[in-house]
Amino acid sequence: MSHSFCFSRDTVYEELPVSMKALLEGERDITANLANASALLHLALEDVLWVGFYILRDGELVLGPFQGKPACIRIPLGRGVCGTAAFEDRTVLVEDVDKFPGHIACDSESRSEIVIPLHKDGCVFGVLDLDSGSLGRFTEKDKAGLERVAAVLENLL
Ligand code: SME
Repeated sequence: MSHSFCFSRDTVYEELPVSMKALLEGERDITANLANASALLHLALEDVLWVGFYILRDGELVLGPFQGKPACIRIPLGRGVCGTAAFEDRTVLVEDVDKFPGHIACDSESRSEIVIPLHKDGCVFGVLDLDSGSLGRFTEKDKAGLERVAAVLENLL
């Protein structure tokens, strides 16, 4: 593999979808691709404590590939930020996790969070979850950028 990934803060969401596609498109194994996707996101984005995936299985979200500290393994649909994003099938951006009713604190250092649903064959497949130790780390710009990254991933699921 000969990728050299360099990202600049202002243009990271223009670069990330291109790099993500280049990194993943030769491989069809979902676990391998989600593992590399979490590593690339972790490399590219500043001030992120945890980035990874939960996969929907039999009505609950199960921990998938990630970068960061060990995390909660199972999250019921509709619970926490992840379960809400999956159940309501929408991106959930939380500026202050202490103000989100039902937030699941896997890491007590997490202060803000964004969760983007991923789809396969028209149904929710799982979620992409990012946590930061800074309040208000994620903005509408992150939401739009991460939804573009999610669209690249969905094409490879
Ligand atoms: N905070 C999440 C749980 C997952 S961790 O952040 C990795 C939630 O409320 O769903």
